[in-house]
This record gives sequence, structure tokens and C-alpha cells, in this order.
Amino acid sequence: MEGAPRMNNTSNADALQSRDDPQATQGRVVEPGAVDLAHGAILYLDDITVSFDGFRALNKLSLMIETGELRCIIGPNGAGKTTMMDVITGKTRADTGTAFFGQNIDLARLTEAEIAHAGIGRKFQKPTVFEHHTVFENLELAMKTDKRVRHSLMIELDSEQGDKIAATLALIQLGDSADRPAGLLSHGQKQWLEIGMLLMQEPQLLLLDEPVAGMTDDETERTAELCNTLAGLHSLVVVEHDMDFVTRIARKVTVLHEGSVLAEGSMDTVQNDQRVIEVYLGR
Ligand SMILES: Nc1ncnc2c1ncn2[C@@H]1O[C@H](COP(=O)(O)OP(=O)(O)OP(=O)(O)O)[C@@H](O)[C@H]1O
Ligand SMILES: [Mg+2]
Repeated sequence: MEGAPRMNNTSNADALQSRDDPQATQGRVVEPGAVDLAHGAILYLDDITVSFDGFRALNKLSLMIETGELRCIIGPNGAGKTTMMDVITGKTRADTGTAFFGQNIDLARLTEAEIAHAGIGRKFQKPTVFEHHTVFENLELAMKTDKRVRHSLMIELDSEQGDKIAATLALIQLGDSADRPAGLLSHGQKQWLEIGMLLMQEPQLLLLDEPVAGMTDDETERTAELCNTLAGLHSLVVVEHDMDFVTRIARKVTVLHEGSVLAEGSMDTVQNDQRVIEVYLGR
């Protein structure tokens, strides 16, 4: 496949084939936890094309993310990184190609809300916390609650929920700010709170688009620590231009260019790839 020399096409094809299983979930409403991860991959994009007025923002893009993986996506402005996230989350529909969450969930069949409910959380660049509520209340509001269960198991769930909020506060390093209105937090802290709010929903796949944009060096470093902690607990896709940050969290890195995969591999591999240097890193 042109433009994707390091893609493992064989395993991608195998994975795609197994979707012909008639037992696969094809319903519109997908319960959380219904995603089938038996084959190891949490996300498959295959041959995705998205055109805007004839311009191909994504051009036969194929990408596979393993369960538990932290994948960094880099590439020049306009490469299609955000459009890729828009396709995964249902904000934009692909003209051609397929996007599957696990083996069984065809993302093209679900609405944005259904995709979020199925377990894909997305953080946009601008934080959207509830400024007048405290940090604690923001996490509480974000928590997934099933009212029927809650009604019958009120006491146990309350302590369980409290533990979960405490654990998330510690993870996002806002334990000391739990009772402060979110509007008083720094830009970086708001970003962490929003990540915490996503975590309260227990997403299986977390998409972060430019999480350290506008952060101080110290905040950027702490965000790298947070991402490294989250890796393995969740599957993560992180888009960033900040190469110091990417270097701190990189495992496998994918370079997008003109809507396709230009290169994929370790940070070292992509940094030394002549085509990547030409279109992006060498600028
Ligand atoms: N809704 C839209 N209508 C028209 N063109 C669009 C739309 N969304 C994206 N594009 C175009 O598609 C291309 C890819 O944009 P996208 O935002 O995905 O790039 P990106 O890789 O996220 O870039 P950046 O690093 O600047 O965020 C760009 O040329 C952009 O102008
Ligand atoms: Mg973008």
C-alpha cells in the first residue's frame, strides 16, 4: 500500500475478514463492554476516504490500534489527524472504507452519542469543564450512572463512586483542588480535569487531540506522566505537534501526511525517515 510502508497489512486483513461473522453485533445501540477485543485490536480503520469539496482530507487511510496501546499520531497541519478522530467519533462520515471498534462494532452505524456510550472518549483541544462547579462535582457529573442499579444499590455504589472519584483526582493531580470551582483552575489543570471527566465514563479507547497545546513546560511534563500512567489501563490515541512531549510518551508513532499513513514505527524510526524529515520534522 503506497504511503504506508510499515503497516502490517496481513493482520489487518485477517481482522477484517473475521467481521463477516453473522453473530457480530450490528445493532445501533451498543452497551458499554459489548466491544469484542478477542483479536487484540481495539480500532481498525481500513481504506477510509473523506472528501471536502473534492479535496481528500483522508485518502485511503488504514490504521490499526492494539488494545492497551498508546499510539502517537503526528504529521503536518492539514494531514488529516483531526478528521481521522472525527470519523472515529462519528462527527464526520467516511465516503468510503470501514471503521470498526473492536471486531464487532461498525462505527458507521452509530451516532456520535452511541459511539461515546459504546466506550470511545474524545478530548477536544478546548476544555469544556463546568466552570461554576467544583472539581469534585465535575467528576461526579461526568460519572456514568445507571439509575436503576443506583436505586437498589445506593450505599455500596456511593462508596464505590467516592473511591473512583478519589482515584481519578489523584491520577490527574487535582486532589488538593477538589473543592475549588473549576473556573479557577489553570489552563493545564482544566485539561487534566477534562481528561478525568472522560475517565469517569470508563472509556475503552481515549482520543486526545493536541492535549498539551497552550500548556507550560511543567504542565506538559506532567501530562506526559499522566499519559504514561494511562497507557495499558486504556487504549490511547494521542495527536500532538509538541515533539518533546511525543518523545516522552512514544511507543509506536504513526506519521500522517495528505490523509494517509506516511510512516509508522518507533520514535527513532520515524525521526530518521527521510520522507518524514522532508514533510514534517525537518521544517
Ligand atoms: N469541515 C471541513 N470542511 C472543509 N475542509 C475541511 C473540513 N475539516 C477539515 N478540512 C480540511 O481537511 C484537511 C485536514 O484537516 P485536519 O483538521 O484533519 O488536519 P490536522 O492534521 O488535524 O491539522 P492540524 O495539525 O493543523 O490540526 C485540511 O486541509 C482542512 O482544511
Ligand atoms: Mg487537528
